[in-house]
Amino acid sequence: MELLKLERITKKYGQSQNITALNQFNLNVREGEMLALMGKSGSGKSTVLNIISGIDGLQKGSYKFKNQEMAKVKGDKMTVFRRDNIGFILQHFALIQDATIYDNIALPLRLSRKPKAEIKERVRKLAAELGIEKQLKKYPKELSGGEAQRAAIARAIINQPQLILADEPTGALDEENSRKIMEIFQKLNAQGNTFIIVTHDPNVGAMCKRTVHIKDGKNYETGGGEINA
Ligand SMILES: Nc1ncnc2c1ncn2[C@@H]1O[C@H](COP(=O)(O)OP(=O)(O)O)[C@@H](O)[C@H]1O
Ligand SMILES: [Mg+2]
Repeated sequence: MELLKLERITKKYGQSQNITALNQFNLNVREGEMLALMGKSGSGKSTVLNIISGIDGLQKGSYKFKNQEMAKVKGDKMTVFRRDNIGFILQHFALIQDATIYDNIALPLRLSRKPKAEIKERVRKLAAELGIEKQLKKYPKELSGGEAQRAAIARAIINQPQLILADEPTGALDEENSRKIMEIFQKLNAQGNTFIIVTHDPNVGAMCKRTVHIKDGKNYETGGGEINA
């Protein structure tokens, strides 16, 4: 089943719209994929994720999520769409510094008004799966980089979003912690979550099922002859 489709997306920035971030970019993602999106700095990777999550609008082209044209989804409806369907993981964790790890992970469930007992059970179970069950009472600054990223992952997936977007999720981690994070992603993918992972790291790319290359906001074919759309 097709999950989402970007067709000839163009996105420009700047007062005179003089910065072209995406130029007729195409992407099809099916349910259950684990996709690496690779390209140089400034090539438009983050813009792709921001459009898929609805943080950014687009000027030209079409974005469909489960066959729904997303240009028509605005304001609060977009916020609800994002909360219900998408988990977002960033390079620098973006944990709330003055909240405990427990409270950070519980936040999306509280926003969805889940009962307290259910929140407790789900946070503890997921923390155990990610190996951070002993960190729940601590604050973000007391965690190692790898632990903080696992906490950020827990917060992004606690609502069981179908699609997980990760922007350079291993960018601040060493090789061992990067591999651990990717193994967690592979496990979640095997359980049914779809992933789009932006990365510079060929090792991370190699642990995904498919790679799409982007250059200057356009689809870019590598030597392999694969059409990356
Ligand atoms: N909010 C913004 N305002 C102006 N230019 C932007 C903005 N966001 C991104 N850009 C520009 O769009 C291009 C693509 O950016 P981005 O998607 O962040 O690339 P990447 O994630 O691949 O490094 C870059 O030239 C960048 O400077
Ligand atoms: Mg980026």
